[in-house]
Amino acid sequence: MIAAIRKARRLEGDVMLPGDKSISHRALILGAIASGESRFRGLSSGADVRSTAHCVRALGVEVSDSAVGGVGMHGLRAPTGALDCGNSGTTMRLLAGLLAAQPFVTELRGDDSLTARPMDRVVTPLREMGAAASWPPLVVGGRMPLHGIDYVMPVASAQVKSALLLAGLFADGRTTVVEPVATRNHTELMLEAMGASVGADGRHVKVSPAERLSPLDIEIPGDLSAASFWLVAAGLVSKSRLRIRNAGINPTRMKFIELLRGIGIGVTVEGARKAGGEPVGDLAVGTAPNLRPLTINGAIAAQTIDELPVFAVAATQLPGTSRITGAGELRVKESNRIAAMAEGLAAMGADIAALDDGWVITGPRHLEGARVRSHRDHRVAMALAVAGLLADGTTEIDDAECVDISYPGFFDQLESLC
Ligand code: S3P
Repeated sequence: MIAAIRKARRLEGDVMLPGDKSISHRALILGAIASGESRFRGLSSGADVRSTAHCVRALGVEVSDSAVGGVGMHGLRAPTGALDCGNSGTTMRLLAGLLAAQPFVTELRGDDSLTARPMDRVVTPLREMGAAASWPPLVVGGRMPLHGIDYVMPVASAQVKSALLLAGLFADGRTTVVEPVATRNHTELMLEAMGASVGADGRHVKVSPAERLSPLDIEIPGDLSAASFWLVAAGLVSKSRLRIRNAGINPTRMKFIELLRGIGIGVTVEGARKAGGEPVGDLAVGTAPNLRPLTINGAIAAQTIDELPVFAVAATQLPGTSRITGAGELRVKESNRIAAMAEGLAAMGADIAALDDGWVITGPRHLEGARVRSHRDHRVAMALAVAGLLADGTTEIDDAECVDISYPGFFDQLESLC
């Protein structure tokens, strides 16, 4: 599908966010090994979470949109064939951790994009725990028992951390993961709510073996990373005002809100509350009166990794030179996001130079609608759609259906706000 986006005169209204993708994956995977049925409201209907649901079903677990029939810590069944993780890195890496600790062998497969993404980052520490694990292709499990390790992660990754915490539930002794930067802690919060012994001491995250996990009954908040597209768009399109209800506002995901405020886009959080162990609130945003350039590097890049494509779009409209560095991980996401965003924004007239680990972008630049490529990457497609709202004429985005990975209905939502 080719999406055609026209310049927006203003954006106004209420945004409906999809359920948080990270929390939805974890609800299905952790719910699968709980003792009894977990219930949830607001599960993401995106294709990535459907991939997790499909894999969990193949392990002998009943799954619906609102419940998962946990089979207990030792109740998973060997699948009859390879598990298909589709486009989803979270599915593959989290399940690698869980399945490395099972008495049976599992192969995990994915589409072309996922097959090209690095999996040695989970295989190496899982082997250190005594698990059988190899890649490529990714094959795990069948050798027990695992033992707890102290692992210093070379790359900041919530997926790798979560994989090791899952394996650690089944290991002898405690597992400690030391993160270079504190990443999203949804796995830790959910495990704690299920009665596991898990805790963080700064960047040291520890988990002890568990005998049983209690089922969940949770409200899954709206996806803050999905909100980032609307926050940037409303901040940059004249006379705009948006309200976003029920967004997850977990502090480990909020760094980009601070960055938005730093460039002049004032986001306010109202009605902060807790839902299912996770902080939730409503967000309000309007057109920024004054804009300032952006600098992102090091730890901040790791904490805003999913929002960087839309920050690249924002930077085209900021005065002066914005620098986004320390984001080499963008090269190994669903696409090479550094190259994909540089290509798309340059085609629209931006002054953007790709670096090994980010971009240098000078603005403000007048953008012109162009035909651009999503590279079948949901976040690239949505970021370029925001660029299209700022550009003269029409922007055509190819393979735009890839937004379904995390945000089914994204383009309908866009139309209703314009
Ligand atoms: C995720 C972690 C991040 C993020 C991804 C979701 C998660 O990936 O980019 O969209 O749910 O744990 P990495 O762990 O590879 O940084």
